[in-house]
Amino acid sequence: MHGIARVLSKLGVASRTVAADFIASGRVSLNGRVSRDPEEPADARRDRIELDGRPVTGAAPVYLAMHKPAGLLTTAHDPQGRPTVYGLLPLDLASWVFPVGRLDGPTSGLLLFTNDAAAGDALTNPDIGVPKTYELKVKRKVTAEEIEALQKGVELEDGTLTRPAQCRVLPSAPGSTWLELTIREGKNRQVRRMGLAIGHEVVKLHRTRVGPVELGELPVGKCRPLTPAEIRAIKAIGRVSAQRAKRKDRPGATPS
Ligand code: URA
Repeated sequence: MHGIARVLSKLGVASRTVAADFIASGRVSLNGRVSRDPEEPADARRDRIELDGRPVTGAAPVYLAMHKPAGLLTTAHDPQGRPTVYGLLPLDLASWVFPVGRLDGPTSGLLLFTNDAAAGDALTNPDIGVPKTYELKVKRKVTAEEIEALQKGVELEDGTLTRPAQCRVLPSAPGSTWLELTIREGKNRQVRRMGLAIGHEVVKLHRTRVGPVELGELPVGKCRPLTPAEIRAIKAIGRVSAQRAKRKDRPGATPS
């Protein structure tokens, strides 16, 4: 038997962290009684689990792309009551989906949402290295050596090294530089920290692509369902991730 937060995540309702938030805020009941403990043992086959009074029975998979405006937080609930991306989700889906990774408050662009925990995990798993593309603005000219450093990998302020990335200069007005950067990992505030590592403060940051999904012309603040081709591509990434996890679990497997 697993904790109720894990059970909700396995059923595809939300990631474990978001499920724990739901539980902490009293939205989840187990056999008719509100559960406040994410570790409370539950069994999806035997127990009656409800979220906001609705039975949880393995929700149909949902995949959404959002054009996040700068200024919203990527969290379900902000203790200080600041606006969050959940306010932009269709009301009937807002309880059921969770963000795939996160964008900082000041960052705009593509943010994916799903209730498919396996797909969400695969898209953010650093071992899989799904590419994410950003456009970033810095205040000065960026030299060829600095671009090369970003591509090869830079040392962040905490001593960690970034993996090889792709980087090119975009058309920019005089006095500033726009770069396009594609990374295959997702350390906290990674792009801003990579900028600082080469001596540039990132003053604007916008995500244009996550794996097979492009932001395209989606208007700011709007959501769209992913296309069948995008969903197939995401599920294929999920399968690769599951196969790798299985291989790692085998006795004698060497840790990566
Ligand atoms: N890197 C950052 O610094 N911020 C984001 O929001 C995403 C990537």
